[in-house]
Amino acid sequence: MEVKYTYADCVKKSEQVSWRLDDVMPADARLNFDLDFLPQALAPTRLEFLSTREQRSLNQIAGNAYLNLFHFVEEYILATMMKHCQAELFGNSSALRALTRFVDEELKHQQMFERFREAFARDFGHPCAVLDNAAEVAGLIMSKSPLGVLFTTLHVEWMTQEHFTACIRDARAVDPFFKSLLHHHWLEECQHARIDTLEAIKLASGLNRDQREAAADEYIEILGALDGLLVRQAEFDVESLQAAAGRVLPENEADRVLNSQHRGYRKTFLWYGMTHRNVQEILTEMAPRALEVVQARAADISSDTGPKQ
Ligand SMILES: [Fe+2]
Ligand SMILES: [Fe+2]
Repeated sequence: MEVKYTYADCVKKSEQVSWRLDDVMPADARLNFDLDFLPQALAPTRLEFLSTREQRSLNQIAGNAYLNLFHFVEEYILATMMKHCQAELFGNSSALRALTRFVDEELKHQQMFERFREAFARDFGHPCAVLDNAAEVAGLIMSKSPLGVLFTTLHVEWMTQEHFTACIRDARAVDPFFKSLLHHHWLEECQHARIDTLEAIKLASGLNRDQREAAADEYIEILGALDGLLVRQAEFDVESLQAAAGRVLPENEADRVLNSQHRGYRKTFLWYGMTHRNVQEILTEMAPRALEVVQARAADISSDTGPKQ
């Protein structure tokens, strides 16, 4: 597989776009709860039984969960990239610089997401639970083969690109501060997606076809585990919405919120990565059998319009 960029290109670009955490997400930043956080394409579906205020609360609850889910998946990415740095020690200095910048940027992103979560918890006015077992999930993912882990990382990094370019960049009527966080995140993630691709090419070159297919099967297995976590987050969201709305939803409405949140997260965190052209291109070359499974699962996600009412 050939790509048009090198580790040195990634270092150069990373230096050009680099930003300071205190400029982008100051520790004392106040969030604007008068606006939606998530753009329409990534936002919860509008449910007719929720008031406008409740719908906005649900958008903000999902926005908080969205950033926390990134915090969640980037925990293991950070840990694996530390290993990639170690493997490159005394090797190619441009590759090592690209990887160490990647690690530092990912740590900064973690701090940005933590600051946001603290600001949200402080000012939202109601309890709003998010997944908090990131280290445990990181351990589970990292128990897989290096290429299986790297396929997952490619999914996450290219998915982040697609969220920004297809859903966020041109979105109007969303909180500009929230949008700026995602913009700054994207600026650095552009290099991460490329570095991951270069690392995947390097890793796969030492593996035979069966080993690459087995690694892609592990990636598919990890996606299944992530889906279970998304259900858990959707359950939290129903509780958070009821706290913010100050009412208990009738059972059928609570079920519809749960289903709609889960479908939304699956599209956002699974479908956008599985269908990204660069993820599909890499699987086409390295694990064509697994690609067919990924395509079939992605088709299931996009055809799932929820239970009939
Ligand atoms: Fe990141
Ligand atoms: Fe990243």
